[in-house]
Amino acid sequence: MPGSSETHVVILAAGQGTRMKSSLAKVLHPIASRPMIERVLETANAVDPATTTLIVGHKADAVREQLGKNPNLWFALQQPQLGTAHALQQAEPLLAGRAGSLILLSGDVPLLRPTTLKRLLETHRGSGAAATVVTATVDRPYGYGRIVRTQGHISRIVEERDASPTQRQIKEINSGIYAFDLAPLFDALRSIASQNAQGEFYLTDLIAIYRRRKLPVEALLIENAQEIRGINSRSELAEVSRLVRQKKNEELMAAGVTFIDPATTYVDPEAEIAADTVLHPGVVIEGRTRIGAACEIQAYVRISNSEIGDRVTINSFCLISGAQVATGAALGPFAHLRPGTTVGEKAKVGNFVELKNTNLGPRSKANHLSYLGDATVGADVNVGAGTITCNYDGVNKHRTVIEDGAFIGSDSQLVAPVTVGKGAYVGAGSSIVTDVPAGALGIARGRQNNVEGWVKRRKGSPGKS
Ligand code: UD1
Ligand code: MG
Repeated sequence: MPGSSETHVVILAAGQGTRMKSSLAKVLHPIASRPMIERVLETANAVDPATTTLIVGHKADAVREQLGKNPNLWFALQQPQLGTAHALQQAEPLLAGRAGSLILLSGDVPLLRPTTLKRLLETHRGSGAAATVVTATVDRPYGYGRIVRTQGHISRIVEERDASPTQRQIKEINSGIYAFDLAPLFDALRSIASQNAQGEFYLTDLIAIYRRRKLPVEALLIENAQEIRGINSRSELAEVSRLVRQKKNEELMAAGVTFIDPATTYVDPEAEIAADTVLHPGVVIEGRTRIGAACEIQAYVRISNSEIGDRVTINSFCLISGAQVATGAALGPFAHLRPGTTVGEKAKVGNFVELKNTNLGPRSKANHLSYLGDATVGADVNVGAGTITCNYDGVNKHRTVIEDGAFIGSDSQLVAPVTVGKGAYVGAGSSIVTDVPAGALGIARGRQNNVEGWVKRRKGSPGKS
């Protein structure tokens, strides 16, 4: 049959997620900084699907908005949400006239590995089954559908709430992940009833229906039960997040990164860290951050979507987001690097210094208590303690330029737009409002006046104490 080797993916994500007790759709809850549904969609790509359909319902608009930019993703609306079988039925019009295999994924089962999904498709095709269910054996099966076998062969799935005490003892569980042959699927779904504890149309009933119709059903029992952990509550969300972090930390340690305490160090799966970098407790690395080799990242530093070169030292309590830091630079403690910031090779950013959309050149230093916003700072510049770029006039932002080798005396304000030329000096305590030419000294502060003998005269005058 033409097109019969096609694979179609359907992902169920319409349920309310009652047990989350959240105003956010369950599948939008983040795991290691990314909505769980995005992780499921990424896994789906492993089977190179001809079509991918997401079933949305509860908070459908928010889910669509999060994922809407992808033109290869189809949406089907399930309204009201009457159960997993009813959810899958919503894909029928979109898949009319299609043949081949349908892979069904759950939006709340985010740890499945791409290789397992490939294996599911291969096993399913190889056996010629009408349905293949991914299962695993777990110690605590509570809450999952149980796999009932007769003479060793899967005969049906019983949900927790509908299971007898004996069935509840079964440790083989349904992952909620299946491969189906498209041909008999939608017709069979119509014969599912809702006579169960929840009054819902359970997709799991399909297995018994297929067995009665003599359609071959297989179970793919996988060894690593962690992969099919479902998320139905905040506590499961935390548990699955922990597994994701643990896996990432182990990969990094295997690749030569030191974790002083892996349990308290959070690195998102998208981050990359090179060998001999040391991460101290409480470090959080988020998003697509890249960190070079032999860096020292002290306790309680948070870095998101940034690039850090080799041999960079980051002292405690720094927040770095959307910034680039070159090799050999030193930051912190208590430095704040905001988006659009670059720190040059061997440059130093000290305590209580904030950089926003600023380029600090190689070997330049801003060691204490400064705000540098919308500034271009050249090489070998010294920015004294308490220097502030006044970049905002209440309406617009303006740039400050400090050229190579300049020296900015402490407690100065540079009112942008303004340029301090090459090698120029700014006297401490100056408010600089016009450009300082190269090689000049710019000084702009009240002249000091010493009043000789003033103290003695004041104390000696009658009536004063
Ligand atoms: C389901 C399975 C259970 C399995 C478990 C694995 C059924 C009846 N039960 O239970 O056997 O062990 O997953 O994690 O299938 N959804 C919809 N529309 C609905 C209802 C649900 O789209 O009307 C979606 C949910 O958003 C979710 C998925 O389907 O992504 C599973 O639903 P959920 O309510 O979490 O089912 P479980 O109780 O986990
Ligand atoms: Mg679930």
